[in-house]
Amino acid sequence: MERVISGIRPTGNLHLGNYFGAVKNFVRMQDEFECMFFIADWHSLTTHPTPDNIRRSAKTILAEYLACGIDPNKAPIYVQSDVKEVLELYLYLNMNAYLGELERVTSFKEKVRQQPDNVNAGLLTYPSLMAADILMHKADKVPVGKDQEQNMEMARLFARRFNRIYNVEYFKEPQSFYYTSHAVKIPGLDGSGKMGKSNGNCIYLFEDDKTITKKVMRAVTDAGPQAMNSDKPEVIQNLFTIMEAVSSPDTLAYFNDKWNTCEIRYGDMKKQLAQDICAVVAPIREKIEAYQADDAFLESVAKQGAERARERVAKTISEVREIIGFHA
Ligand code: TYM
Repeated sequence: MERVISGIRPTGNLHLGNYFGAVKNFVRMQDEFECMFFIADWHSLTTHPTPDNIRRSAKTILAEYLACGIDPNKAPIYVQSDVKEVLELYLYLNMNAYLGELERVTSFKEKVRQQPDNVNAGLLTYPSLMAADILMHKADKVPVGKDQEQNMEMARLFARRFNRIYNVEYFKEPQSFYYTSHAVKIPGLDGSGKMGKSNGNCIYLFEDDKTITKKVMRAVTDAGPQAMNSDKPEVIQNLFTIMEAVSSPDTLAYFNDKWNTCEIRYGDMKKQLAQDICAVVAPIREKIEAYQADDAFLESVAKQGAERARERVAKTISEVREIIGFHA
């Protein structure tokens, strides 16, 4: 059966972008493939969180994974730092990763702009750690949102390069996976860019109906369409893109129609959008609270997940050692 791996950085709570870009697919994939999912706490060190933050955030994501419907009996969940094997592969991949190509990665360049005083080597080698996460599982499919495409390309590049350097056909090239026809990018409510924790434009899965409705009603709009069947400006397209994720095709078609005939009332559209977002989020929110209160269960899920992951990757690491010329 094809293998699936994916993870999320514990730098805050899960938002609609994480859900529609990744976790919703995790839940569906667990019935179709051999899946494992993890919490990328080592990756989150690039922004220097406190120890307290690290512990709390990993638990939060774990509770949120479960609340979204990941069943650890079908798809084990582990915390990255519990599976130290990844560090060894990270080291080997780093030996074949070049400064120029790492510096050209868009998310690295963004971070350099965002945190000019903390351009650390971990940020630079972020794609090699992510490639190690994936390659150590010999994964076929990686469910991720659109913003991870470049990291996925790097993972394939590192896989090919390893094979070439050691003259083996060892790593296969992992593919990004989504059920839709194209990778998902959920925009923020502020009219520009993607929904993202550092952009302050998120709707979180733990938020209540009132908060969500308030955020949606405040979303940026414009003066309305100026001509029949015109293209939508980004601020308006963003609302439609979120609607495409949360609402029924009929609802989407209705508001598209209203746009095309210049009869759209943004207030009505936002009310509907808020209602449909709440319908997705409310059942998840209730479960987050329940899982978060059950510390012992969370611990046992993470412990079992780590054991399963370590079993699965041990063979890769010893084979890689042998290929490179070390004792297996
Ligand atoms: P992270 O934590 O930034 O995001 C987790 C997942 O959520 C998706 N996502 C989105 N999808 C659509 N629209 C959005 N607005 C949006 N925001 C976030 C991301 O594409 C991602 O799938 N590098 C990864 C973590 C990682 C990983 C891995 C993933 C580390 N190792 C190995 C897969 C395999 C990251 O920072 O995701």
